[in-house]
Amino acid sequence: MNNQETLWLPEAASTVAGSVDALFYFILWVSTVLFVGVIGAMILFAWRYRRKSPQDRPVPVRENKLVEASWIIIPCILVAIVFVWGFRVFLELGVAPPNSYEINVRARTWSWLFEYPNGAASTELHVPVNRPVKLKMSSEDVTHSFFVPAFRVKQDVLQGRYTYAWFEATRQDTFQVFCAEYCGSAHSLMVTSVVVQSQDAFEAWLADNVLDESLTPAERGERLYTQQGCFACHSLDGTETTGPSFQGLAGSVRTFTDGTSTEADANYLRTSIVNPAEKIVAGFEPLMPGQYATTLSAEEVDALVAFIEEQ
Ligand code: CUA
Repeated sequence: MNNQETLWLPEAASTVAGSVDALFYFILWVSTVLFVGVIGAMILFAWRYRRKSPQDRPVPVRENKLVEASWIIIPCILVAIVFVWGFRVFLELGVAPPNSYEINVRARTWSWLFEYPNGAASTELHVPVNRPVKLKMSSEDVTHSFFVPAFRVKQDVLQGRYTYAWFEATRQDTFQVFCAEYCGSAHSLMVTSVVVQSQDAFEAWLADNVLDESLTPAERGERLYTQQGCFACHSLDGTETTGPSFQGLAGSVRTFTDGTSTEADANYLRTSIVNPAEKIVAGFEPLMPGQYATTLSAEEVDALVAFIEEQ
């Protein structure tokens, strides 16, 4: 199997990629042959049977059973081949091997969170090479779609229901993860990476990323900033994206869309996290999801406020 990127497909780096690509190329080349044949015959006939003089009249066409049978039977066979082949690849993609390593995936506007069996969590997916990995996915808000082109894996991620995807990465490298379902204004920024590591490197990484209870509130807040996906809309360097940057936010004077203004003290920061629609800073849209009042504990809100106050 050719693993390199081609004109048609990105690089291939999972065990199922070969099956998907073979079917893709079968359909591509069959379609090409049929397209060239049909269009070629059409052009040839249009030229050959064109009206050559004003006296030309259409000649009645006699049926040809062989030609008629061929354009019924050949497409039927091709469609049946694509169906059976496609169904087998679909099953291969849909059924994870029983020994798969399971990772939880949480999608939310507009970032990904990956949770590992030992309690580690990250916004970049880390997986061991040559080992089947099963993803148990759910969304906190709207429909997203987990897509890794290099693995040929794409699966919708829904609210209130788990969906699954699996893959076995065949190469140690970093690959792009996309959200493939339009999920709001920052959908195109809902990207991350999957880092494929050796088993040893993966285990070392896992041990390093277990949540540490000895962190200070601001350090916990920094971790939450990543895990909760705040970074998707709130930069730390002053860049204004979907939401206001956290740089220099605490203590500054905020002017709102209704013309009022206030100083960004701890209470303002807290309210903006748990009830983001209450005050919208002038120049921004009311896009922040409102679930943090229920999904964050009081300690977590405190930690985030402490983190923002340090920026
Ligand atoms: Cu999430 Cu598009």
